Amino acid sequence: MKFANNSVDEIFQLNEEFKHNSRKDKINGGIGIYLDEEGKPFVIPVVKKAISLMHFDNFNYLPLSGDPTFLKETCQIMLGKNLFLDKENLISKQGVMGGTNGLYIWSMFIKQLYKRPTIIIATPTWENHQRIFSHHKFKIISFNHLDKNGSFNIKALERQLKRHPESEVLFQAGSTHNPTGINPSKDQWDQIANLIQENKNKVLFDFAYMGLGNNIDQDSFAIRLFTKKKIPISVVLSFSKNMTLYQNRTGALFIFSKTKREKNAIDERLKYFFRIVNSNPSAFGELVVKVILESRELKTEWIKSLQQMVNSLKKRREFFAKYTAGQFDFVKQGEGLFSLLGLNQPQIKTLKIKYGIFLLSNSRLNFGGLSLASIPKVAEAILSLSQAFSDYPSSRYQV
Ligand SMILES: Cc1ncc(COP(=O)(O)O)c(C=O)c1O
Repeated sequence: MKFANNSVDEIFQLNEEFKHNSRKDKINGGIGIYLDEEGKPFVIPVVKKAISLMHFDNFNYLPLSGDPTFLKETCQIMLGKNLFLDKENLISKQGVMGGTNGLYIWSMFIKQLYKRPTIIIATPTWENHQRIFSHHKFKIISFNHLDKNGSFNIKALERQLKRHPESEVLFQAGSTHNPTGINPSKDQWDQIANLIQENKNKVLFDFAYMGLGNNIDQDSFAIRLFTKKKIPISVVLSFSKNMTLYQNRTGALFIFSKTKREKNAIDERLKYFFRIVNSNPSAFGELVVKVILESRELKTEWIKSLQQMVNSLKKRREFFAKYTAGQFDFVKQGEGLFSLLGLNQPQIKTLKIKYGIFLLSNSRLNFGGLSLASIPKVAEAILSLSQAFSDYPSSRYQV
């Protein structure tokens, strides 16, 4: 049997290779998970606490949209209380099985509205974006996420918005762009909002790291700004990373409408598509999140842990920059888990074979996967290779 496009997912393939590698000193800079500063697997303490407080009398099905309190609390923390109260009745809310499933359901929904939808997506991006939207036969339009100075490339975005008015546009919300770690500034978000209004585009925010860039309020800045400006948006919010729930597939899809009538129609469509694909939401994860967000005390504990994770990621970035003698200072401008180092293919391969350091082929490094003790080793290995293979192109600006 032959299948077109039959490539496996690089992230999970590399992760399997890492697991089966017998080196004691191996380091996983690939898959996007957060380890503690000693490099040990980490579950946010309040998540463990919430699980210990949970009681189950049965495992009956949830409503098709998911747990109403989970959805309300999630939407409220994302928008802030006042904006939420103002807009609540115009937002369709669907519980989903993590961010990927939310993007998939949203694609099905858009695909039914438009025969060949166009979506503008920055390059590089999380590799599953391309896959999900190609699978649903979207026309994908790219623009370079970074300009030559390594900042967000608003000019490139502007060109594509003008060429493709009324199309969908995908943005990663928060300040944790996967894979570059570089995000639009607040001023740029304001300019983007104006461009979107001029060109009548519709926006999908992929919000996979709420609270892991700076804090929940700052990370939700663009979503709140666009909501206040009445720009039609959808949001796919994942709790995989910020609740360390990864395998417990939990998230929410929000679609904002102009009228109550439109909202009611969208509610029904979302339930229809969710029923076909998943049939019923992920009760365990939704309950964990609900228990935490409903309790002022537990929510405060969660926010404190997020802040500690953010601080630790910043510390890891600074430490790495220090040990690479200024050659990779740009990682200090990045936020969230990832940076693109700009290494070329032979350098990435040598890091794996000679030093047991695993990076994605686009040279994305996950700071969340580095213990403090491992950073000098990673930094020194990368420095030692920085002059080697210099006739090969860097992957940083590769499109
Ligand atoms: C940018 C981005 N979007 C969405 C996701 C989806 O995450 P999940 O399906 O695990 O919730 C990820 C996970 O790595 C991501 O990095």
